[in-house]
Amino acid sequence: MMILTNSQQIHIKHAWHASTADTKELIHVDCASHIYPDGSQGIHDMCFRVFEKEIVALCGPNGSGKSTLIEHLNGLLRPSSGNVTVMGNKLDLSRVDIWKDVGVVFQRSDDQLFAPTVLDDVMFGPINMGVSMEQAKSEALGALKAVGAENLSDKMPGYLSGGQKRLVCIAGVLAMKPRVIAMDEPTSDLDPLHAEMVENIILNLKNNHGISIVIATHDLDLAARISDRVCIVKDGSIITEGRPSSIFYDKNLIEMSGLRQPKVVQIYEGITKNLGIVMENYPITADELVKTIAPMIRQH
Ligand SMILES: Nc1ncnc2c1ncn2[C@@H]1O[C@H](COP(=O)(O)OP(=O)(O)OP(=O)(O)O)[C@@H](O)[C@H]1O
Ligand SMILES: [Mg+2]
Repeated sequence: MMILTNSQQIHIKHAWHASTADTKELIHVDCASHIYPDGSQGIHDMCFRVFEKEIVALCGPNGSGKSTLIEHLNGLLRPSSGNVTVMGNKLDLSRVDIWKDVGVVFQRSDDQLFAPTVLDDVMFGPINMGVSMEQAKSEALGALKAVGAENLSDKMPGYLSGGQKRLVCIAGVLAMKPRVIAMDEPTSDLDPLHAEMVENIILNLKNNHGISIVIATHDLDLAARISDRVCIVKDGSIITEGRPSSIFYDKNLIEMSGLRQPKVVQIYEGITKNLGIVMENYPITADELVKTIAPMIRQH
């Protein structure tokens, strides 16, 4: 008899399959491990895929390997073993223009900003893609406007606040119009208004531009609101993946992974337990919660 490890059992419980007939695979991280120069293990035996037109959330606690995985998606880090394939091509040292396909918004904005002004910074990508200065300026201003940061165009990046830097970094990636954008903790230092703006940008990129988005976050409320698929990252690997309504209602899995269920899930579980009602729906957004509990409240 085959004995399954804990994480293999979890995998089967939340088994998730893309319907290959209509879903194109854009990125495939195949059993990748990464050992940093000091010997620390960033990820190990990591398997991860990104499909066309989806928002996929990498959820895991501090140090679980989310940023390390993200930095493999555009070749910034190379796996010590295993492979990364982007748009059907294996990433190797000959592939220098990967940033045209995959844009990354880093966890630390200072790693990304370098030009004398915000506008120069955001224009850098389009210029490198070979467009005219005029076109690059128009793309950059459009991207800054999309994130509500057009008023920052003449500022020096180094003097911006943390949240402003984050918005400029997002604009820098938007201006290049890649097929996939990976955002590492995209809203962690934003005020509620700008966080909502970034959430709407992410949804708009997917729905209206067909761009796939990967977000790394430990904010499960954010993941619940916007993701189509959730991957739980623990100790350098993805231990399970699935729809948010399946993953986030598995309290043991979430807590064993060092996370906490989204607020909507906690509230819904609390209400159903309190009223002695068996759960039939699995709301994960505030709207879904209201629609689900309003009839219950009317009945009691
Ligand atoms: N440059 C580095 N050199 C050595 N070890 C590193 C380096 N970067 C990350 N690590 C280690 O790799 C592991 C994964 O780190 P990573 O930054 O990918 O985690 P994370 O999930 O993004 O965490 P956080 O939520 O805190 O951002 C950790 O144990 C970390 O200490
Ligand atoms: Mg990180």
